[in-house]
Amino acid sequence: MADNPANSETLDNLLSENRTFPPSAELAANANVKQEAYARAEADPEAYWAEQANRLDWATPFTQVLDWSDAPHAKWFADGKLNVAVNCVDRHVDAGHGDQVAFHWEGEPGDSRSVTYAQLKDEVCKAANALVSLGLQTGDRVAIYLPMIPEAIVAMLACARLGLPHSVVFGGFSAEALRSRVADAEAKLVITADGQFRRGSALPLKAAVDEAVEASDSVQHVLVVRRTGIDVEWADNNLWWHELVDGQSTEHEAEAFDAEHPLFILYTSGTTGQPKGILHTSGGYLTQAAYTHHAVFDHQAGQDVYWCTADIGWVTGHTYIVYGPLANRATEVIYEGTPNSPHEGRHWEIIDKYQVSIYYTAPTTIRTFMKWGKDIPAKYSLASLRILGSVGEPINPEAWMWYRENIGHDNCPIVDTWWQTETGAIMISPLPGVTATKPGSAMQPIPGISAKVVNDEGVPVGKGQGGYLVIDKPWPSMLRTIWGDDARYVDTYWSRFAAQGYYFAGDGAKYDDDGAIWLLGRVDDVMNVSGHRISTTEVESALVSHPSVAEAAVVGASDATTGQGIVAFVILRGDAAQDAAEADASDRVTELRNHVAKEIGPIAKPRQIMVVAELPKTRSGKIMRRLLRDVAENRPVGDVTTLADSAVMEQISSGLSAGSED
Ligand code: WT7
Repeated sequence: MADNPANSETLDNLLSENRTFPPSAELAANANVKQEAYARAEADPEAYWAEQANRLDWATPFTQVLDWSDAPHAKWFADGKLNVAVNCVDRHVDAGHGDQVAFHWEGEPGDSRSVTYAQLKDEVCKAANALVSLGLQTGDRVAIYLPMIPEAIVAMLACARLGLPHSVVFGGFSAEALRSRVADAEAKLVITADGQFRRGSALPLKAAVDEAVEASDSVQHVLVVRRTGIDVEWADNNLWWHELVDGQSTEHEAEAFDAEHPLFILYTSGTTGQPKGILHTSGGYLTQAAYTHHAVFDHQAGQDVYWCTADIGWVTGHTYIVYGPLANRATEVIYEGTPNSPHEGRHWEIIDKYQVSIYYTAPTTIRTFMKWGKDIPAKYSLASLRILGSVGEPINPEAWMWYRENIGHDNCPIVDTWWQTETGAIMISPLPGVTATKPGSAMQPIPGISAKVVNDEGVPVGKGQGGYLVIDKPWPSMLRTIWGDDARYVDTYWSRFAAQGYYFAGDGAKYDDDGAIWLLGRVDDVMNVSGHRISTTEVESALVSHPSVAEAAVVGASDATTGQGIVAFVILRGDAAQDAAEADASDRVTELRNHVAKEIGPIAKPRQIMVVAELPKTRSGKIMRRLLRDVAENRPVGDVTTLADSAVMEQISSGLSAGSED
């Protein structure tokens, strides 16, 4: 499609936002990280990172911070040695905090368990001894396919303690997804459970493992936690967790490993083809995990109660449930189930029960809460909250405001944290005691991190302009390679701006007039309408800013006159959905189209808007625009295997007559 040279901006900047929310004076005065950190980190990034690394206990202190001589392959703190599990558990017990609760675990059916640091240490040591008894040796890979139960965290930490890189596979993935990941990592052990609870019922889990390991050359044992008590098939190499682990000694002497020893592999689907095994190592990863949890959430050990709602199957669960918070001696809440089980107020009930002060969730979850209505959180106190976080997607300004008002009661800073599986930890985010936040903006790179928005040639764009997000300096928790495919690592992340040596994140972004960064979605999703490159995020946010819309997904569909036309799929808010059933649907659609034109300009007016009940999402909650493009272009819908709910696409396709076009 031809670009109109008159409109050759890399990405148009359409939406503007003027609201801003400075931190309270109290938080500004007492925050863990203050304004001065930005300049200090910029003046000497390596000294700054060395200071952060010294938040950890090193068995052998490092003398070199960064070795970038083999770029884009970094080594951080390379001559230092440490044990990640000791840093997350033992050292807190040794410092006299053994009785502090590490996590309050809340099971979906309502069972619960609080585990102290001393108890966690015993459990991790027992599990480590059990893994040793199976003959596993440093460097061997272990696949973990578990629901959100305490054993999942114990298993990860036991692997870390022994230098066994783990590969956690989300419990919602299929047998085939598990099989390909186990095969790629050549895992020797799979740790799983008999089943898992989902919306009140016990679903099988081990059955998928049986299928996945059937023809495996690498897997020697399958270790099974009993969670639901459902019947399972049993093979010779299967072992019950309670039989193998419970009787082990609580004494285990941990060895220190090189800072660059592999800690975990985590598979990310990427936009096309074969999943990529993102490899993270130990010292640099743990440094940035702990530092960002301290800085971005302003976490105060022994005072805060911290809850990240992610699943350990995603990087958010690795960095902000397991490694970062435990390294910082957090008291956490861990919840096994879905937000509407058994009722739509479950999260708020849990926050009140444990007096949660820091709550970290995803925009998709916030928009779901919006759809359910503000009356639900209004029934709870939520007064213990002091910091709110968001991660996973751009958060629409209206969802941000809803979160601030209805969950934060206008007195909790929101940190919108941009990062990726590949970056390992938060990169761009407000700092709660420093930043005057703007609804929908991740604001600026945190101290120690350098990122830019550049045009096609790799030249930084100016204020008010859009382009590609790049990271222009190495960072401690960066991925080290793609497991088994280093050429793909170099090609995927470092070839687009090879001349400049920039890491290309794959996201579009813009600077606003003040220089704050706004994320605009994956560049593959950018639409081209009459030569204007329009971000899906901005049109979606304009739609969500209408009081009747809870959620929107926008795609570009081929269009004979404009190149692409904008097609929007919207979910209405609880009350509006009711009215819509009665009112004339085409009036509603006209109103929404005009609303977008008013918010961001006539160029972004959707050609077509369809009101739907659900949107197709991956299991981590990201909208699958590829499938919506198929619908918008009247093609048969493509591969739906990574959809959280495969019935959604049928509903959308069959409900199309409800949409409207003019
Ligand atoms: C992609 C990475 C980071 C942990 C969860 C997702 C999008 C993530 C934000 C944000 C706008 C965001 C980006 C990024 N993303 N956080 N705060 N604002 N977009 O990890 O599955 O590796 O996905 O998620 O597109 O590239 P992931």
